[in-house]
Amino acid sequence: MSRARVLSGIQPTADSFHLGNYLGAVRNWVTMQDTHDAFYCVVDLHAITAGHDPAQLRTRTRVAAAQLFAAGLDPERCTLFVQSQVPEHPQLAWVLGCLTGFGEASRMTQFKDKSAKQGAERASVGLFTYPVLQAADILLYQADAVPVGEDQRQHLELTRNLAQRFNATFGETFTVPEAFIPQETAKIVDLQDPTAKMSKSASTLNGLIDLLDDPARAAKKIRSAVTDTGREIVFDREAKPGIANLLTIYSALSGRSLDDLTAAYDGKGYGDLKKDLGEVVVEFLRPLQERTRGYLDDPAQLDKLLAIGAEKAGAVAAATLRTAYDRVGF
Ligand code: ADP
Ligand code: NA
Repeated sequence: MSRARVLSGIQPTADSFHLGNYLGAVRNWVTMQDTHDAFYCVVDLHAITAGHDPAQLRTRTRVAAAQLFAAGLDPERCTLFVQSQVPEHPQLAWVLGCLTGFGEASRMTQFKDKSAKQGAERASVGLFTYPVLQAADILLYQADAVPVGEDQRQHLELTRNLAQRFNATFGETFTVPEAFIPQETAKIVDLQDPTAKMSKSASTLNGLIDLLDDPARAAKKIRSAVTDTGREIVFDREAKPGIANLLTIYSALSGRSLDDLTAAYDGKGYGDLKKDLGEVVVEFLRPLQERTRGYLDDPAQLDKLLAIGAEKAGAVAAATLRTAYDRVGF
């Protein structure tokens, strides 16, 4: 029995991934490489839709790949590649763009939000057609499922519509993918503001644990995390979002259940929990950073791994594009 195919991408838009990226996305990618036929890409084409610096993009793409390999993605068990190294992505995106209604694309809430922030005149056409490129990313691999966060539902719906539209117009070509929202996905909030998600755009750096943070500094951020009123260590996202966040991180990094943790901290204080979690975070970061450095210190080897990924991905993408072009009349 063949495994279901998944495709997932992540943007290299920060100098490093943060703990929210790791616990919310990357960790699931690592698990899924053994349960699925998994294709993962660092989507550098998407990363230029809102302006960028070339040298910085190049570095960020490499660090992203190094961190993904260091987190446990194994080139023998999955295909990890850089989007710009597989030219079929923008080639299929053009065709799909010609099947996308202007009004339909205009309804994408992520574009509305991002273009409102940048100012409508400054937002690029690339930002507007971002979801069409995302559809190409997915459809090229005939993915059965796409692991995404809730915020990507609308884009995935567009992808499904485009697949169905193409198939109905030109003949069965694309697998219509399902959204796959893993139940276990941890939502990590800002350590200083539990009402906001941990994000690279956070206002205070102390709210975020960067995967490249000095481990001692990361432990300090945990110790100075905003906690809630009261003393009791219970898991309650509503009443105690700060403590719930720390317990979520603790459980995810240690493999211990929330019940086990709350039982273990019964009668203890917030300080005890933070001190211990700080140590857990240090133990998590140290080896991860060591492995990341190993990949970054050997650029030839990293290039080789990415070339292998691009070749494996490219073979699948080229076959799909050939069929699609043929159906379209090219
Ligand atoms: P950011 O929010 O820092 O800009 P991205 O939007 O680039 O991060 O997200 C990359 C991936 O990481 C996505 O799959 C997203 O769902 C996940 N992710 C980002 N922040 C968090 C978080 N705080 N908790 C859980 N998952 C997150
Ligand atoms: Na984001």
